[in-house]
Amino acid sequence: MDKRVVVLASGSGSNLQALLDHPATSGAVRGVLTDRAGAGALERAAGAGVDAEAVAFRDYDERADWAEALAEATAALRPDLVVLAGFMRILPGAFVERWPTLNVHPSLLPAFPGAHAVEAALDWGVKVTGCTVHLVDEEVDHGPIVAQACVAVEEGDDVASLHARIQAVEHRLLPEAVALFCADRLSVDGRHVRIQP
Ligand code: GAR
Repeated sequence: MDKRVVVLASGSGSNLQALLDHPATSGAVRGVLTDRAGAGALERAAGAGVDAEAVAFRDYDERADWAEALAEATAALRPDLVVLAGFMRILPGAFVERWPTLNVHPSLLPAFPGAHAVEAALDWGVKVTGCTVHLVDEEVDHGPIVAQACVAVEEGDDVASLHARIQAVEHRLLPEAVALFCADRLSVDGRHVRIQP
């Protein structure tokens, strides 16, 4: 059965674009949801003819109401997999228990979780950082790791230059991980994700 993938994004959506451009994942992306009306990801989805909708956080007085609306919009798209591609809000436990969810994060977890991972790595003075694709559980940037790749920190790097090189690697790693899920090649054993041949 062909898997249906729904992508949640908050920002420009370059990782969404990587999924839309990759031959193994482009056909699987069936919907895009954002938490901001102006998210660039909406335009990228429209450009690819994919259903897209903003469930804008600011339109709701209560976080619980927004979360319920997001879950409804997600359910309507009938995902087998949800992908957080630069989605900058924490999802309720009930959401990530309902759908298998992958996240891409711009550090080598468990180092530098949170919303400012690239800045935190630079501030710490690490020589190597990178990106992680992991399954999402109810703790932030915590679930079992599917794939990681390193990026060297260069002399003179700032947040923008380092993040740009990390994103270039994310654009390869995320579609590869989503393709493995779609091919039923990921199995999870506690914290360990195994890739089936
Ligand atoms: C990506 O670099 C992703 O790793 C990061 O947001 C960026 C979104 O870029 N996510 C996080 O920091 C999550 N904690 P994009 O909108 O161009 O895909």
